[in-house]
Amino acid sequence: MSGLFISFEGIDGVGKSTQIDLLEKHLSQLGRKTLRSFEPGGTELGQEIRNMLLHRKGQLGARAEALLFAADRAHHSDTKVKPALAEGIDVILDRYLDSSVAYQGVGRDLDAKQIRDLSLFAVQGLLPNLTILLDMDAAAALARRDKTGNEPDRLESEKVEFFEAVRQGYLKLAAAEPERFFVVDASQGIEQMAELIRARVDELLK
Ligand code: TYD
Repeated sequence: MSGLFISFEGIDGVGKSTQIDLLEKHLSQLGRKTLRSFEPGGTELGQEIRNMLLHRKGQLGARAEALLFAADRAHHSDTKVKPALAEGIDVILDRYLDSSVAYQGVGRDLDAKQIRDLSLFAVQGLLPNLTILLDMDAAAALARRDKTGNEPDRLESEKVEFFEAVRQGYLKLAAAEPERFFVVDASQGIEQMAELIRARVDELLK
């Protein structure tokens, strides 16, 4: 008995948290137990790694960055994600290994295949049953994100070209694994998106 494993992906500002809230509500209305978590930082150790990745001043090279994301993911997988799935609990993650392939592999211009292999090593090959990619033009997503008025972290300080490359990276990943990915146009209304996502998840539950 394994729970359903769903990850949400997309560039910063596409509205993942809102859609995760709505899906969590839907699954609990169906009487399912869910665990919602996120990367980087879904564990206590992960919070320290998140802090290094996003808020530490000073130089951090692309490979070191990729390895820190992988370390966070390995620990999260071992101590939270896998135990929950084994108990039959559905796990919904705000970002998972496709974030590393898109941001570090494509955005930072490391080798996407190597980053995928590194991420698979971190989680011992565990892929989600479904990955929901919220897709939106990078300029529009950043404009939405910047409306929150929060101080940008290290990754958020990247330029629009970086996020457009990451977005294209995600679309390529989705095209390569059409059974796992569900691409949703994130420029449409919140409720419209939620309805599409519920319908796709309900299909999996049949
Ligand atoms: P996230 O927590 O989703 O952002 P926020 O809470 O600030 O909205 O992710 C933090 C940043 O880390 C985000 O810019 C995406 C980036 N990231 C990677 O570059 N690689 C990864 O593997 C992951 C999980 C996140």
